[in-house]
Amino acid sequence: MTNARSSPTPRHPDTPTPPSGATQIRFERVTKQFDNGEGARPAVDDVSLTIEPGEFVVLIGPSGCGKTTLLKLINRLYDPTSGVVLVDGTPSQDLPGPDLRRHMGYVIQQGGLFPHYTVEKNIAVVPNLLGWEKARTRARVDELLELVGLPPGEYRHRYPSQLSGGQQQRVGIARAVAASPGTLLMDEPFGALDAITRSRLQEELRALTNRLGQTVVFVTHDIDEAVLLADRIAVMREGRVEQYDTPTEIIMRPCNRFVADLVGADDLLRRLSLVGALAAMVPLDSDDGIGEDEITVDVPIRVRHVLSLLLESGAPRVIVRQDGVPVGYLDLPAIQAVSIPHYDGADDALG
Ligand SMILES: Nc1ncnc2c1ncn2[C@@H]1O[C@H](COP(=O)(O)OP(=O)(O)OP(=O)(O)O)[C@@H](O)[C@H]1O
Ligand SMILES: [Mg+2]
Repeated sequence: MTNARSSPTPRHPDTPTPPSGATQIRFERVTKQFDNGEGARPAVDDVSLTIEPGEFVVLIGPSGCGKTTLLKLINRLYDPTSGVVLVDGTPSQDLPGPDLRRHMGYVIQQGGLFPHYTVEKNIAVVPNLLGWEKARTRARVDELLELVGLPPGEYRHRYPSQLSGGQQQRVGIARAVAASPGTLLMDEPFGALDAITRSRLQEELRALTNRLGQTVVFVTHDIDEAVLLADRIAVMREGRVEQYDTPTEIIMRPCNRFVADLVGADDLLRRLSLVGALAAMVPLDSDDGIGEDEITVDVPIRVRHVLSLLLESGAPRVIVRQDGVPVGYLDLPAIQAVSIPHYDGADDALG
């Protein structure tokens, strides 16, 4: 068994060590052009983007827009054709790929389990590489199988071919987080899961990454999932990043028609069900008295829920509380303001 500091390839004394904590990932004018013949568009086209340590960033966009390619540029499964990817300030090209990948959990789009390894052995790959004690690894495997809803007694010794697609995906997630890497790259990890398992794992993942302060780059097609999980969302189109912003900004102020359509910003109920009450409320003045029988809600709560309360109760407004303190209110005019799409960009003609 290897120990944490040994490495299969001898390290040159000047080779920088890949970071093991939450990393900053910075794209500087990165282009990735595959050899797809004359006139083919780059898969990633002049992207500049900074992901801060501990940030949860979601990549979203149509099929083929370059999401998977962008992820693989982070852990050096691909290198840029031009531009540079900086990992905590070090150009990725100066970091040995295998080392980098050992410090970044990666859930690939289609399963990607080792077919000749049992579930247990698949999850234990990185802990074994890092030289963990057997007992520690085994405890970790059991803990993670429980976490992803696969009872260890039943699943530990199975092979990937004996699992459903969704179960394989869950093992893939367990494997990626096994050694609590500082950085997680997740390519549509919940794609094959039913709604209930999906929503449970979304909550678990967010709690886990918050607790560990991990940097996460997460790909999805599902805007609801993006809004739920992300600190910031990067909307991609044809290899470029169209908008990189908080979920609320993206929903409230899509920069152009494309982003508005992608996030369903024109669908009133959808906007209301994505925007949080804090983003839409009218702040309370200090001298604004609150009646004893006024309806009160606590954040986080979505505007759509507040609208239902308003309509059911017939009350003129609902008071919004944060940490038990009234901070604002929502009434129909405030909710109407949310429902008017607002573009800063000028390419509305595209729609
Ligand atoms: N290894 C490769 N060789 C050649 N072209 C590739 C390769 N990988 C991706 N591409 C092309 O690069 C573009 C971006 O692909 P990518 O896989 O990054 O898209 P994506 O946004 O992840 O799509 P999806 O949502 O379908 O997974 C596509 O046009 C694709 O055909
Ligand atoms: Mg992809």
